[in-house]
Amino acid sequence: MAKPPSLFLILISLSSLAFLSESRLSYNYYDQSCPRFTQIIQETITNKQITSPTTAAGTLRVFFHDCLLNGCDASILVSSTPFNSAERDADINLSLPGDAFDLVTRAKTALELSCPNTVSCADILAVATRDLVTMVGGPYYNVLLGRKDYRISKSSYVEGNLPKTTMPMADIINIFASKGFSVQEMVALSGAHTIGFSHCKEFNSFIYNSTQYNPKFAQGLQKACADYPNNPTLSVFNDIMTPNKFDNMYFQNLPKGLGLLESDHGLYNDLRSRSYVEMYAKDQNKFFQDFARAMEKLSVYGVKTGRRGEIRRRCDAIN
Ligand code: HEM
Repeated sequence: MAKPPSLFLILISLSSLAFLSESRLSYNYYDQSCPRFTQIIQETITNKQITSPTTAAGTLRVFFHDCLLNGCDASILVSSTPFNSAERDADINLSLPGDAFDLVTRAKTALELSCPNTVSCADILAVATRDLVTMVGGPYYNVLLGRKDYRISKSSYVEGNLPKTTMPMADIINIFASKGFSVQEMVALSGAHTIGFSHCKEFNSFIYNSTQYNPKFAQGLQKACADYPNNPTLSVFNDIMTPNKFDNMYFQNLPKGLGLLESDHGLYNDLRSRSYVEMYAKDQNKFFQDFARAMEKLSVYGVKTGRRGEIRRRCDAIN
């Protein structure tokens, strides 16, 4: 006769079941624990985007930079301390806009009042990004919930994990590939440059002698950035045609030399990515479909669940 399992084994399997159930992401994660979750995020992003229309682009970039570096775990939101230089203080992240951080803080404050110690900063950032993209005209996509926040955030981990405009396209492709994203997904995600802006510092060195720019556009950029050494805040819209609308205009601009960053031109010039640029320039629906799918994939990249992370009380500090 088979021996009955010992009490010890039963306890172990029960506790691992509990761990598994709390480790799983789901669409209705907060339905019981925080029924107003969706509504609170909606209210917060609407108020913020109306008063500061650059919030949508800023938040999308913050989310991208959070996820690509060791997963969507809100580690980008943590402020530095005298003992730790955090991710957001790495050179490439210094231009991340305050409005995006402020948005998450506002949402977190409202959520803590409604359902204390329940909603992670990582989930707030993921859903706020999706809702803002939709609000400015982009596609809706589903976001799984149940991410936990991660307390390790180090500026020294950033190098090599985020693409820079000055990198050869092969290096940019490699960064995305190392995180499991194909060239097509990389191009679709880069369509995010249909909104937002870039500081002159990011492209100024290319606009005087690069043949990639439409000559009139290059002249306009030289004028717009003429005073940038004295005024480092000077910036230009990433998509000069429809800067505040999430559409496929970014891709239509690239073949005309109206891309802003060296890496934007690279997407069209490199034969590995050009056909996708052309496809998205012709077909906005296809761009929206692929962007939505790639964002769903990015949104679960490297997420921590269960006991691998925590719910931070404040999004900008480890408590
Ligand atoms: C392909 C490689 C990429 C490179 C080299 C790159 C680089 C940059 C740079 C240098 C800026 C200007 C930042 C500033 O001056 O404030 C920028 C802006 C932006 N990037 Fe990218 N990016 C890339 C891909 C992406 C992806 C995949 C996303 C999102 C899914 C994204 C979202 C954005 C957004 C929304 C802005 C505007 C930010 C704002 O207005 O505050 N980028 N990017």
